[in-house]
Amino acid sequence: MSNGYSTIWMAATGAEVVSMEKWVERIEEAKKNFEKAGVEIQIIEGDILENISKLEGKFDFVFIDAMKSQYLDYLKLLLEGKLAEGAIVAAHNVINKKEDLKEYVDYVKKNFESVTIPGDKGMEVTLVEKF
Ligand SMILES: C[S@@+](CC[C@H](N)C(=O)[O-])C[C@H]1O[C@@H](n2cnc3c(N)ncnc32)[C@H](O)[C@@H]1O
Repeated sequence: MSNGYSTIWMAATGAEVVSMEKWVERIEEAKKNFEKAGVEIQIIEGDILENISKLEGKFDFVFIDAMKSQYLDYLKLLLEGKLAEGAIVAAHNVINKKEDLKEYVDYVKKNFESVTIPGDKGMEVTLVEKF
């Protein structure tokens, strides 16, 4: 989540947005930014790895942009009943952090329909239909 920039754009679509962050100062900054932007976003404070399994409901869209070495762990936890059928998982930085995210990208390309959107940072967009 950091200062909330990406989540504000998601919430501006009218979607119900849940965001996770463990860094207290960033959470405070994000809360101020959400208020300024006039959006309601649920913040789950703490470590993502400890909180995914506690999420309620199933998600249609997940944007992953946290610790690069943990992306595959996040995805595997999400695959334990947290994604709606046909969910989209977008993972940031697959070009500029290519080496760090190789295992993640190999996994999604092997198991799902997945495309890499080019650009200086790159985004891996994965369709999770059956799992
Ligand atoms: C690149 S920033 C996210 C930027 C965000 N997309 C935005 O637009 O504001 C990554 C954030 O993930 C957080 N983070 C990294 N690993 C985490 C973890 N395991 N649990 C919770 N937050 C984590 C960091 O504290 C950092 O604020």
